[in-house]
Amino acid sequence: MQYVSAEHAVGLIKNNERVFIHGGCATPERLVNELTNRSKELKGVEITHMHTEGHAPYARPEFSAAFHVNAFFIAKNIRPYVNEQHVQYIPMFLSEIPMFIRSGKFPIDTALIQVSPPDQHGYCSLGVSVDIARSACDMATKIIALVNPRMPRTIGDSMIHVSRITAAVYAEDSIFESAPVALTDIEMQIGKHIAELVEDEATLQMGIGGIPNAALQFLENHKNLGVHTEMFNDGVLPLIEKGIINGQAKKIHRGKMVSSFAMGSQKLYDFMDDNPEVLMLDVGHVNDTTVIRKNKKVTAINSALEVDLTGQVCADSIGTDIFSGVGGQMDFIRGASLSEGGKPIIALPSTTKSGISKLVPTLKVGAGVVTTRAHVHYVVTEYGIADLYGKNIAQRAKAIIGIAHPNHREELERQSYDLYGKCW
Ligand code: COA
Repeated sequence: MQYVSAEHAVGLIKNNERVFIHGGCATPERLVNELTNRSKELKGVEITHMHTEGHAPYARPEFSAAFHVNAFFIAKNIRPYVNEQHVQYIPMFLSEIPMFIRSGKFPIDTALIQVSPPDQHGYCSLGVSVDIARSACDMATKIIALVNPRMPRTIGDSMIHVSRITAAVYAEDSIFESAPVALTDIEMQIGKHIAELVEDEATLQMGIGGIPNAALQFLENHKNLGVHTEMFNDGVLPLIEKGIINGQAKKIHRGKMVSSFAMGSQKLYDFMDDNPEVLMLDVGHVNDTTVIRKNKKVTAINSALEVDLTGQVCADSIGTDIFSGVGGQMDFIRGASLSEGGKPIIALPSTTKSGISKLVPTLKVGAGVVTTRAHVHYVVTEYGIADLYGKNIAQRAKAIIGIAHPNHREELERQSYDLYGKCW
């Protein structure tokens, strides 16, 4: 493989191209910085990606003549600029983004990716982030790859042959890590409640944040758990080491842990490297509800910014301020609901850190409903579990108030009486 400098490689990008950036912990920061260095000479370059790590300098307003962003997920590096004209959010189910890219309606001129070095057959691996990168690489006219021996060689839909790569840059850069943070007491209490809902032989999906990790800590006495999840982190490692997660009860990809991207520590990346037990697959497959539902007892654990008393789940915005993205929440909540014995769970602290109730009579004006009230079954806070499935609106309101913070229950009851029914 012939290597060139990052400057030379990124020099192939022209005005008005659409450039895809490999996401999550695979973000090729060296290439991103080099692209931003061309801000004075480039015009109208559209940048697209899911969540990325690093500083995302291209999103800064001073570079808006050169670059504008159309992102499928708003991470904290571009959050300050979202809703400005040059940084916009595309709401789309994660399961559908690969299909959208493959449809040709969203052509990608250049993909900037980070991969492991080629194996003896000439295949590099997309490593910790296969998700929508698989479809972007399949469709991109040019691929500029940062080839990095520190990128774990993962197995699945991750392989890309050197013949597809237009320009390769070699560097031994650190892969972004998202080391586990200490869990709060509230997260631990929520985790304990979730663990009560998880049955032996369940297949788990874990969403973003500390709550799924807290739940994993209480599964030490469970048996034959499996994993089919769009993302995962270090939280699964102790359960794999103890044989509690073994995938033996799974109906599809039996014995394998299936995922699409990973965000963890070097320990996790070492575990994933060349490991045939971990399948990193296209998110169009992983998040497909018809695939998810094939496993029994799919237990999907996702979080929310707000839940209203009818069960509507806001997860991508705080009012009109876009905070994150639709992601795969609805894919898995629905997939779990369709799975035999499945349990779709929305888990959240009852209040924000400043004491505002996250369980609300009505969502904020402009709040994005990621999961509808018809999709939701269980809502869990540190105060317990509300089972909403099959309940009418007044019953739902009562169940949700029962898991609200005690300081807010009286006011929620008053508002519920006015808004949703005078039957209790
Ligand atoms: N009103 C005002 N502010 C609120 C709020 C509310 N109801 N709820 C949360 N916030 C603020 C918090 O105070 C916090 O602010 P800070 O960062 O300044 O402390 C911030 O918003 C984030 O809240 P937090 O509860 O810590 O979020 P989280 O990191 O646990 O993530 C989601 C929760 C919903 C944003 C996240 O799960 C998500 O993006 N989900 C959508 C996609 C998805 O679920 N995908 C599935 C699998 S990947």
